[in-house]
Amino acid sequence: MTEIFPEVLISEEQIREKVAELAAQISADYAEVDDLILVGILKGSFIFLADLSRALTIPRSVDFMALSTYGESESTETDGAVRMIMDLRRNITGKHVVVVEDIVDTGHTLSYLLRNLAARRPASLKTCVLVEKPDRREIFTQMDYLGFSIPDVWVVGCGLDWAERFRTLPYIGVVHPES
Ligand code: PRP
Repeated sequence: MTEIFPEVLISEEQIREKVAELAAQISADYAEVDDLILVGILKGSFIFLADLSRALTIPRSVDFMALSTYGESESTETDGAVRMIMDLRRNITGKHVVVVEDIVDTGHTLSYLLRNLAARRPASLKTCVLVEKPDRREIFTQMDYLGFSIPDVWVVGCGLDWAERFRTLPYIGVVHPES
């Protein structure tokens, strides 16, 4: 079967440069920290987390959580309710934590996550987001490190999917689910 490739919104080169920039900034900000914990949110963050974590020049470890929005499946709309599917393995109390997300859309997922993690009393809690859609925001969301702001289009690649397709595209592309 022939694969149809989505049109490019953000190129592989632009992503590589941005990841290097974000990693340099985080490495500088946490230069005095001896064990930064990067928390990847599955599934979407796995590629961005892999690239970002390898570009850091400071001691770091990774852990994962899996969250999901109710009412998903192949739909592109969600009702904003979030549930946890898999929790962290590590205790983050007293630790410096950066949550790594592929995308902030309505903001409900990251907002839920930050409330949940803050209750565990980390030494600090920040976020690093690859792309965000400002036009879709329904709730304020803390984004300390941000890659790209994009228009309200359905994007895939670098961990982002459309009904589980295109997650491993090396660039961020646009699909049109209605067509
Ligand atoms: C995506 C993405 C974020 C969330 C953002 O996850 O990875 O976690 O949606 O949306 P929000 O800002 O509207 O809450 P998704 O639920 O699609 O799961 P996935 O990461 O497994 O693809």
